[in-house]
Amino acid sequence: MDRIKITGGNPMNGEMVISGAKNAALPLMITSLLTDKPLTLGNMPRLADVNTLNRILGNHGVNFSVQGKRKSSDSLFGETVAYDAKDIVDTTAPYEMVSRMRASFWVLAPLLARMGEAKVSLPGGCAIGTRPVDLHLSALKALGAQIELENGYVIAKAPQGGLTGGIIDFPMVSVGATHQALMAATLAKGQTVIKGAACEPEVTDVAECLVKMGAKIEGIGTPNLTIEGVDCLGGAQHNVVADRIETGTFIMSVAMAGGDVFLKGARADTLENAIEVICQTGAQIEVQDEGIRVVKTNSDIQAIDVITMPYPGFPTDLQAQFMALMVKAKGVSRIQETIFENRFMHVQELARLGAKIQLEGDTAIVTGVDSLHGAQVMATDLRASVSLAIAALVAEGETEISRIYHLDRGFENLEEKFRGVGVQIERVSE
Ligand code: EPZ
Repeated sequence: MDRIKITGGNPMNGEMVISGAKNAALPLMITSLLTDKPLTLGNMPRLADVNTLNRILGNHGVNFSVQGKRKSSDSLFGETVAYDAKDIVDTTAPYEMVSRMRASFWVLAPLLARMGEAKVSLPGGCAIGTRPVDLHLSALKALGAQIELENGYVIAKAPQGGLTGGIIDFPMVSVGATHQALMAATLAKGQTVIKGAACEPEVTDVAECLVKMGAKIEGIGTPNLTIEGVDCLGGAQHNVVADRIETGTFIMSVAMAGGDVFLKGARADTLENAIEVICQTGAQIEVQDEGIRVVKTNSDIQAIDVITMPYPGFPTDLQAQFMALMVKAKGVSRIQETIFENRFMHVQELARLGAKIQLEGDTAIVTGVDSLHGAQVMATDLRASVSLAIAALVAEGETEISRIYHLDRGFENLEEKFRGVGVQIERVSE
């Protein structure tokens, strides 16, 4: 199993290119199931999760081909991949596949909408919380689907003549349930109104791609979406939006290590709340046409309180990274996690580096320390693992992070990008 080693103490200077967003790329790939025409996705990040979903889509009969690479001089530099779901050969997504990655459960809606039936394994629990799917299922039921649960599988059937439009009123914000509702509604007969939709930029990106495919959607970017169903969707070309979580992670890395870094391709408009918070900690952020510049001088890091919220609030996917920053702040920071009930597994690992963090229910109370020291630590989930890397940037000596397959799921070329701006980092393979 690979590990990474980081030796702390170097500032970060130079340029880092921001990749396409994992959490937009995955649902965009899944929308290819809605049409028998090719969907070409540009700026695709090269990630383990993308490879996993490629295998899952392949099982349904989707063909994909890498079409080329953007020049590194472009602000977007991911791969271009064409997805072709002309023939769906299987409407079952088995446990062995869905259990590898929760987002693969989202194939349910497009398979049901296009093929009239789908059998998809329940995704099961996940390290960061129980993560039920009741909202996904109630949304599909509101469009006329018959749903049964059998031996750990969701078996969904559309009525004769297909799904019909309806009113979906979400009692709480769910990104995944919004993706499913939106995808299903595009092919349902008549009008669907989704209330309480997630407004995350990744949902907006998917909705914009669906419009390019011929879907009729009003209210994109707001909690109220109105969709007029169409008989079929066509092909399209779409570039995956820049990854706001990678951007926020790098901003916090510079805020921690000090230095001057330009984040090429970063989209400040998808990260306003987090940028405001990070500025309050003492980093300077300059929004430019082609990206974001982050400067942190030798001044102290100020302690700030944060509460995670659905977009446009402070993202749960940046909570662990922000906690790592607060570990070295002057004063005490309270970090409240309101989205997932068990997203504090990084606390124990940060403590191994010398952090002082106390947990009180859904709140972590972080008392800043003057220095951290390198240690052996373990990645527990995707964002938690990168928080350990942020702490390691300023820890005295060497930090060795194991189980970094979590990192590979969602950060493209992390070592290369860190190394390029002066971080002493190496991957050790066994
Ligand atoms: C998406 O997960 C992201 N995953 C997560 O990113 C992200 O943390 C999360 O949204 C919140 O922003 C992808 O986009 C692939 P939710 P999702 O449904 O859709 C509860 C990362 O690190 N809920 O918005 O699964 C749920 O338990 C990841 O990249 C229900 O109660 O999250 C949670 O408490 C991890 N019933 C809350 O809603 C449901 O039917 C929000 O979850 C669905 C969700």
